[in-house]
Amino acid sequence: MKILLIFFTFYLISDAVRCFSVTGYSGGSVLVDSGKLWFSTNVKCFNKLPGWRNIMNNTKHDKWISVGKFTLFQNNEGNLTIFIRDLNEHDAGGYWIGVLYKWGLDLTLHVEDDSCCKVSKKVMVNVGETATFSCEYSQNHINDLKIIFKEGKDSIEMIYSRWKKKERFSISDDKHNNIFSVRITAVTPDDGGVYLCGVWINRHSYSYSIINNVHLHISIPPVVRREGESAEIICPYDSIYKSNTKSLCKGKCSTRDRNPLSETVREEKETKTDRLTLKDNVTASVFTGTITGLTAEDAGKYWCAVTLETDLNYLYTHLMVIMNEELNLTKYEGDDVSIQCKHHDEDQKSFCKAYEASMCVKDGVSLEMIRDDRFSFSDEASTGVFTVNITDLREEDSGIYWCGAHVMSKVHLNVKKDFSMIIIISVCVILLLIGGFTLTVWKLRHERQSDAYTQPSSVYCTVTHNPL
Ligand SMILES: *[C@@H]1O[C@H](CO)[C@@H](O)[C@H](O)[C@H]1NC(C)=O
Ligand SMILES: *[C@@H]1O[C@H](CO)[C@@H](O)[C@H](O)[C@H]1NC(C)=O
Ligand SMILES: *[C@@H]1O[C@H](CO)[C@@H](O)[C@H](O)[C@H]1NC(C)=O
Ligand SMILES: *[C@@H]1O[C@H](CO)[C@@H](O)[C@H](O)[C@H]1NC(C)=O
Ligand SMILES: *[C@@H]1O[C@H](CO)[C@@H](O)[C@H](O)[C@H]1NC(C)=O
Repeated sequence: MKILLIFFTFYLISDAVRCFSVTGYSGGSVLVDSGKLWFSTNVKCFNKLPGWRNIMNNTKHDKWISVGKFTLFQNNEGNLTIFIRDLNEHDAGGYWIGVLYKWGLDLTLHVEDDSCCKVSKKVMVNVGETATFSCEYSQNHINDLKIIFKEGKDSIEMIYSRWKKKERFSISDDKHNNIFSVRITAVTPDDGGVYLCGVWINRHSYSYSIINNVHLHISIPPVVRREGESAEIICPYDSIYKSNTKSLCKGKCSTRDRNPLSETVREEKETKTDRLTLKDNVTASVFTGTITGLTAEDAGKYWCAVTLETDLNYLYTHLMVIMNEELNLTKYEGDDVSIQCKHHDEDQKSFCKAYEASMCVKDGVSLEMIRDDRFSFSDEASTGVFTVNITDLREEDSGIYWCGAHVMSKVHLNVKKDFSMIIIISVCVILLLIGGFTLTVWKLRHERQSDAYTQPSSVYCTVTHNPL
């Protein structure tokens, strides 16, 4: 009764009810600008028709209300915007959205199935490099405008469209393959986040169908150094954070339980503690942590953090330390080998074949990923050692292997052809040759002897033929 009364009031007070009809794809989302103001102090209502099932009820919020897959937020222009994500066929139907005592609107949602839109992608790119990702759209949207949005903390912002361009961003639309590609040059740490690839679906309103989600991860290339050397961890940041405190932490780095190794002080741009020096170069928007006299304990994941008012903005990188001690193994084809690798924690049990340690970082092969039956590994967790066995060695197994992921040890494996086998074969071949030679000589001799006897027969032949 109460709810009915509320809606009755809505209709009485609101001005003409607007209708929206939008089509989304199963797995995708829809984003609709109501074209009406948010009104911070008024209650927002979100109902599913025809039963008036209450999705959002009597909640007042500053900018953003999210209940399950349904979100209402205030966009940059102050308008209420509706966002419905992870669509499936049960979401199709009518909705009623309103701001109490101000306005209300009907939304009809159609959900179609299309292979295009179920993909959520993860893209990794190093700071300063160019990021590219592509979004596949349904055939129905060849002629619609393509738009990129980005999820913020409490907003979804249009980043790039034909009418709103952004430096460093570009979109190219391949209409033959129903794919549009997004390119971001010289990426900065702040470019990281979730991008929404959208198409503008309704020319009479600002409604978009979101077809793909792309998580863009910005990373700093790993630093690989030898034991005893010094390492520089270079942390770029967006120039808007020039005056914020920067810190370098290892392992955990969240707001609550972080334990920074070093922190810059606002006035002094250099902090020095024991083996670590932290320097902030505000002109270049880069802060650098230098660690001298590296040991195995220094290896690990480091966070470059910029302290903001309420939370932290950070990037991470890995510091790998190559141990000076190496393993040099020489084996023969067909042999088995057992390689013992030290590891410092559970996720460090990595074994990789590569000429350079740095190559293992990107294409690191964890032991579970080696599909070759000849490779097996056993783990004596308590001893901090894991063993890699390779059976039936082949010459192509020769090469440089790296044990461990953060603390890396070099293993040279040299697989030679088994000479004992070659010698046996060679002896056999020589014996065969000698045998063959003897046989030939004997045969030749034998033939020469028999030649003496055959001569008369030829005479005989000549004699027999002569009378003709
Ligand atoms: C925001 O709402 C106003 C009306 O309040 C409308 O004129 C305008 O077009 C809307 N903006 C967008 C981007 O939809
Ligand atoms: C809506 O709010 C009213 C009162 O604020 C409450 O009694 C009711 O249970 C709520 N309904 C839902 C679906 O949350
Ligand atoms: C800061 O970086 C700029 C540009 O890379 C460089 O020219 C300058 O020497 C650096 N300043 C310090 C104090 O290292
Ligand atoms: C490993 O052993 C081989 C053969 O014994 C030798 O030629 C090679 O130089 C050694 N490599 C290292 C790095 O010790
Ligand atoms: C590896 O080889 C060693 C010695 O040959 C053996 O004791 C061990 O059981 C083997 N481990 C696996 C996993 O095959």
